[in-house]
Amino acid sequence: MTMLTKTSHPTTTMLSLLFFYACFIIPPTIKLTTANDAPGGKGKAIFLLAGQSNMAGRGGVVNDKWDGYVPPQSFPNPSILRLSADLNWQQATEPLHRDIDYFRACGVGPGIAFANALLRKDAGIGVIGLVPCAVGGTNISEWARGGRLYNQLIRRSKAAVEGGGSIKGLLWYQGESDTVSREDAELYKRRSQRFFEHVRSDLLLPTLPIIQVALASGAGSYIEEVREAQLGM
Ligand SMILES: *[C@@H]1O[C@H](CO)[C@@H](O)[C@H](O)[C@H]1NC(C)=O
Repeated sequence: MTMLTKTSHPTTTMLSLLFFYACFIIPPTIKLTTANDAPGGKGKAIFLLAGQSNMAGRGGVVNDKWDGYVPPQSFPNPSILRLSADLNWQQATEPLHRDIDYFRACGVGPGIAFANALLRKDAGIGVIGLVPCAVGGTNISEWARGGRLYNQLIRRSKAAVEGGGSIKGLLWYQGESDTVSREDAELYKRRSQRFFEHVRSDLLLPTLPIIQVALASGAGSYIEEVREAQLGM
């Protein structure tokens, strides 16, 4: 019970860190207009979530088990939905990636906290649709066009807009797995730029905003190299 009153719960710390490290790629702001939405109704503002474990959410996971603690930033809200693995919209609750990153124990991630922050900034945004696609431990090569993860991301993105609404951005938190070898770290910039280009092109959204989090930790010793590649995009 004392845990609930602690202000420095690791999940909360992780989320603040995440927003601290968030860096924006071109274009620098998220446009929250609904100009592209279907006429006759305000569609969902859809955000794609992809990357590896930090995006999938490991907040509160200890020894492969989630402690069940949800920080206030991640409380559910009727205006925040998630697209389930079987392509149904439902109210978003943690763990957001439970049926996508299903081989691992999922906990609290950045998705719902991000959506709550948007609602606080602009209550008129309407319904936010989150599309979880992140899978823990994956490297940038596994996200290349034509691969399973890439295909799943595109397929889920297309399914997400079918019920109305438009894709407002891709939230991307990845790179930890590319810090192990110097070669992967050196190729990181080129590989991720190609990935972003392909996503924008295959979704027919050439100016899709991509919000990338620069690494604060990683699996190997080339964290700084990957981080610099991310900050240099
Ligand atoms: C990426 O991960 C996959 C699966 O673990 C592995 O087979 C592949 O060698 C890795 N690729 C690179 C370039 O590290």
